[in-house]
Amino acid sequence: MLTRKALGLLFLAAACFSTIHIARSATRCNHGWIPHGQSCYLISHDQEQWNNAESICELFGGYLAEIQNAAEYNFIQSQVNTTQKNFWVGGSDIENEGTWIWMASMTPLSYAKWEAGEPNSDHNSDENCIDIRPGKLGWNDERCYLVQNYICEGEGVERL
Ligand SMILES: *[C@@H]1O[C@H](CO)[C@@H](O)[C@H](O)[C@H]1NC(C)=O
Repeated sequence: MLTRKALGLLFLAAACFSTIHIARSATRCNHGWIPHGQSCYLISHDQEQWNNAESICELFGGYLAEIQNAAEYNFIQSQVNTTQKNFWVGGSDIENEGTWIWMASMTPLSYAKWEAGEPNSDHNSDENCIDIRPGKLGWNDERCYLVQNYICEGEGVERL
């Protein structure tokens, strides 16, 4: 006969096993980072100019998020939709007006999802950084020196 205690231990072991099993297929992230696909994301609570946001992401071992496909965009847009804030991501045309690249990897935008009418290079072509805004269907270009929230991307801490 299994005692109550033995049954409890069995249940605990089963729970541990299933947790490990789930972790095997998912990206594990540092505390406060959210897993999606092969990456982890930090949704900032503070606001920074674009440059400082990039530096902070680097201090954390990451970079301002680089959006490579629709699944990644939808994940980030849905995170942003739950806020009332605008968020910097890692794209800019500051080096060459009209040529947008992901700055950390220095790669062209292989996938782009601009909001209708964007990028509009408003404010005398002074909008050189990409931000993502709540309730929108695509990206916007904004003045890099505005102080806004930001989204860092980084690798998972370990794969089991
Ligand atoms: C973000 O909000 C807009 C407006 O409500 C909605 O149309 C869009 O589908 C939302 N995006 C995501 C990825 O949830």
